[in-house]
Amino acid sequence: ALHQHFRSILQSVPDAMVVINDAGIITAVSKAAETLFGYEADQLLGRNVSILMSPTDKSQHDGYISRYLRTGERQIIGIGRTVTARRSDGSLFPIDLKIGEAKIGDHYLFTAFMRDLTEQRRNETRMKALQ
Ligand code: HEM
Repeated sequence: ALHQHFRSILQSVPDAMVVINDAGIITAVSKAAETLFGYEADQLLGRNVSILMSPTDKSQHDGYISRYLRTGERQIIGIGRTVTARRSDGSLFPIDLKIGEAKIGDHYLFTAFMRDLTEQRRNETRMKALQ
């Protein structure tokens, strides 16, 4: 019940947000995340978050999470990073990725905010061309 409530709140979050459990499985997405990646929520819930990545990171992401759970060393949590994301049609695009964590009992939840950097990159390219 609490979880349903949480999911409905996420529907109204204006940013692209994805929640995963400690096994990397998507447990909630915002409407903006569905739009950004070109999926319906049903196609994402229960899937590994690696569905949103390029093949390079896809095969390693479970390892990134387990390394973090083992060592507690943060590479992106609380720092952020520009990474390459993948839409449902297979196209790749740059995003600013921010990750937060919450401990619920003895499990972790990870929340990610993602911002599309496509437009920003395009502008940078235009600026360079003018110099
Ligand atoms: C770690 C890539 C999305 C949760 C990492 C690392 C990379 C990465 C490269 C390891 C960094 C390192 O060890 O140097 C990506 C890409 C994404 C993505 C390309 C594209 C969509 C997400 C999302 C979540 C998430 C949506 C959570 C909702 C984590 C966690 C870690 C991690 C928990 C380990 C903690 C840390 O390194 O601070 N990811 N990630 N990732 N990612 Fe992702």
